[in-house]
Amino acid sequence: SDDDSVSWRGVPITEIYGSQSPWGAPEFPLIVPAHNHAVLYHIPNKGRTTDDVPPKPRTGTDVWNHDYVRMPCSTQSLYPVEDSNGETHLKKRWEIIETALSKPIRNSEELANVILSYNTKFKTVWKFRALHKLFDHYLEEEESQYFFDVTLPEIVKLTLALPRLVQAPIPLLKQHKNRSVSLSQQQIASLLANAFFCTFPRRNTTKKTSEYSSYPFINFNRLFNASPSDSVLEKLKCICHYFRRVCTKVPAGVVTYSRRSVAPDSFPKWHASERHISALPLHVDSKTTIEDAQGLIQVDFANKFLGGGVLNFGCVQEEIRFVICPELMLSMLFTEMLKPNEALMIIGCERYSLYSGYGGSFHWCGDFRDDTPFDSSGRRRCAVLAIDALPYANIKHEHSREMITRELNKAWIGVSYATDEQSDSLQYPGVATGNWGCGAFGGTPRLKSLVQIMACAQARRPMAYFTFSDVELRDDIINVYNLLARHNVTVGQLYKYIIRFTATDVRLNQLPSFLQQVLLDDRPKTPNAKPLSPKVSMTSPD
Ligand code: AR6
Repeated sequence: SDDDSVSWRGVPITEIYGSQSPWGAPEFPLIVPAHNHAVLYHIPNKGRTTDDVPPKPRTGTDVWNHDYVRMPCSTQSLYPVEDSNGETHLKKRWEIIETALSKPIRNSEELANVILSYNTKFKTVWKFRALHKLFDHYLEEEESQYFFDVTLPEIVKLTLALPRLVQAPIPLLKQHKNRSVSLSQQQIASLLANAFFCTFPRRNTTKKTSEYSSYPFINFNRLFNASPSDSVLEKLKCICHYFRRVCTKVPAGVVTYSRRSVAPDSFPKWHASERHISALPLHVDSKTTIEDAQGLIQVDFANKFLGGGVLNFGCVQEEIRFVICPELMLSMLFTEMLKPNEALMIIGCERYSLYSGYGGSFHWCGDFRDDTPFDSSGRRRCAVLAIDALPYANIKHEHSREMITRELNKAWIGVSYATDEQSDSLQYPGVATGNWGCGAFGGTPRLKSLVQIMACAQARRPMAYFTFSDVELRDDIINVYNLLARHNVTVGQLYKYIIRFTATDVRLNQLPSFLQQVLLDDRPKTPNAKPLSPKVSMTSPD
């Protein structure tokens, strides 16, 4: 396939699907309530809703403690209010919110004041710069008017429906626990409407000692207050569009958020792995983007605090993905910061927006109709896998045994989600990834692509790698892959070669030629040696 008329190299994408269609792969495990899987809605008898009606919320009683999301509508969420005599009383926060939201909100000034009425501590801190700029200067006047006349009253309704829509408590997905939460898209919309109105208690302080200091931000005030660059305003447009959509027609599907935590003693012994690189089907493409790779496990180049800068000025892969699929943002409500041995899988999110550009040139480009089919549990067959690489200030730091092992483990924890570890056969769906850790985090694609190839080979998940227009990188990756396959190199051998490379004067993009050199040198020097010799002698670095 060394052909200039196609943008891909390696095996055809159908080999990553495991069938002719993106939907031929087995589904992820069904949603079944269990001690480690909280299902917040009532599962219909058929397993999923087949009509357009969202599933009913599960009944339950609020729990106000460290293990569950503290809900703004909890009767125990209290707020100090001063009366006319200057005395302070504790009032139910939800009543204050209900009162504030019952009045018409006609412009961004009034919206800001409503939000501040139950966040009085921040009266002088929150300036709502981006919010004001969006509605006063950036949007066409009719667009702003439409938002306040039509969309916002609906967001208010969705916000106030929270006590009815989410009754059972939402467990926090804490560190070191394998836990899942499933919610209906309608419940998610109501929770995100609450984030829009900044109602979640205890989520606004940045103090290290605060209860949620190891959780991402969820209230949208951060984004409303961000410095109003074009990309911040365009992200706000995406979010407003999401609300317009869900308020016009409430989506009927469900979404699972699943935290995977692996004990470090269960990590693969990388130096000893005998899995062959050649057993991994690899497709490398310079054109497609990850979110367009239907049916595959789509990697989110995450921050350990999920969402990264989505509620701030950030506008790279993770942030863009989160604003075009805002249901991903709900993970920020309950997912504690990821540890090195953890990943988060999100199954079922829908995409609502088209976009163009990237970073500073990012633009909302209109409505997107997602035609992804549903699985037997009523989730869209879209799996987003959040794994966080480490940021590197220099190439030497990244090229060390410790860091490489860390990234290998991280990628493997993610891609081995729901694989059958007993089986020797390939596991579908495959993975759609790319320059993980190589943008904002400063990593090196020629290293990180191999790290991900090793993780996928180990987990036996076929891999599609999207190089984001980099044709040279595409060709380098496939050439290295072919070289490794030709020499029958195992994951363990490759690991040791890479560690050997770290001992050299590591220079950018030299890893492919280093591997070529090593494999030539290590070829057995007998006259009739088969070119596919699996035995490559090594000076063991272990
Ligand atoms: N499809 C394929 N490749 C892409 C796409 C896409 N949609 N978008 C970007 N790339 P980056 P990181 C390529 O910087 O380095 C966020 O703030 C492109 O080559 O988003 O892991 C997170 O919250 C790009 O340079 O990921 C973290 O804080 C490269 O992927 C931090 O950034 C890396 O994208 C993670 O940074």
